[in-house]
Amino acid sequence: MDGCRLGQQQTYRSIKMIVTLIAAVSSNNVIGKNNQLIWHLPADLKHFRQLTTGHTVFMGRKTYGSIGKPLPNRRNVVISRTFTNIEGCEVVASLEDGLKLCAEEEEVFVIGGAEIYRQALPIANRIEITRIHQDFEGDTFFPETDPQEWQETNRQDFTSDEKNPLSYSFITLNRKTGNASFIN
Ligand SMILES: NC(=O)c1ccc[n+]([C@@H]2O[C@H](COP(=O)([O-])OP(=O)(O)OC[C@H]3O[C@@H](n4cnc5c(N)ncnc54)[C@H](OP(=O)(O)O)[C@@H]3O)[C@@H](O)[C@H]2O)c1
Repeated sequence: MDGCRLGQQQTYRSIKMIVTLIAAVSSNNVIGKNNQLIWHLPADLKHFRQLTTGHTVFMGRKTYGSIGKPLPNRRNVVISRTFTNIEGCEVVASLEDGLKLCAEEEEVFVIGGAEIYRQALPIANRIEITRIHQDFEGDTFFPETDPQEWQETNRQDFTSDEKNPLSYSFITLNRKTGNASFIN
């Protein structure tokens, strides 16, 4: 696989591949509690489905457990040190192994949870955040993004309505330096 070294990271990915993190995050950076999502925001679920359908989604085993089934019309890759087989999914022992499986793909999505976001952030090119404009109590958090490294390139703001009881924004962040790749 094409590649070059970035710092001491032992990370593998194709140079061409875009790695996008996608997450719904409260004002105080909470993403979940007791291995579940906290809010119900149909507009966010639709946005998530539109962006990820037809692509590979990477998730940690706990996030897979909270969803409970493979996401339809997507290649589901679950990262686990303990599981080797989950019906309808490909199970890999690390994010690096998962990325190697997808070397020819244009864009892959990392869909959480906190452990996997943390590990994928250094190699991500793009982040699609649904920012929920309210604080929540939780036990899992989205990692801090350094404003020196990330630039907001798109933003749509929405107020609450009958179906969506919270105000929120869809925000795209792109890594300022372009590629954040790779080791051969
Ligand atoms: N708001 C959002 O957008 C969003 C999105 C996704 C998830 N969430 C929330 O996030 C929470 C779950 O996040 P989490 O951080 O607790 O768990 P997680 O990241 O989903 O999964 C953690 C698990 O992934 C596996 N893993 C992690 N690093 C690994 C590595 N380097 N190599 C191999 N396996 C590795 C381990 O599985 P094993 O234990 O099987 O070895 C570990 O227990 C839930 O509350 C969920 O609802 C929120």
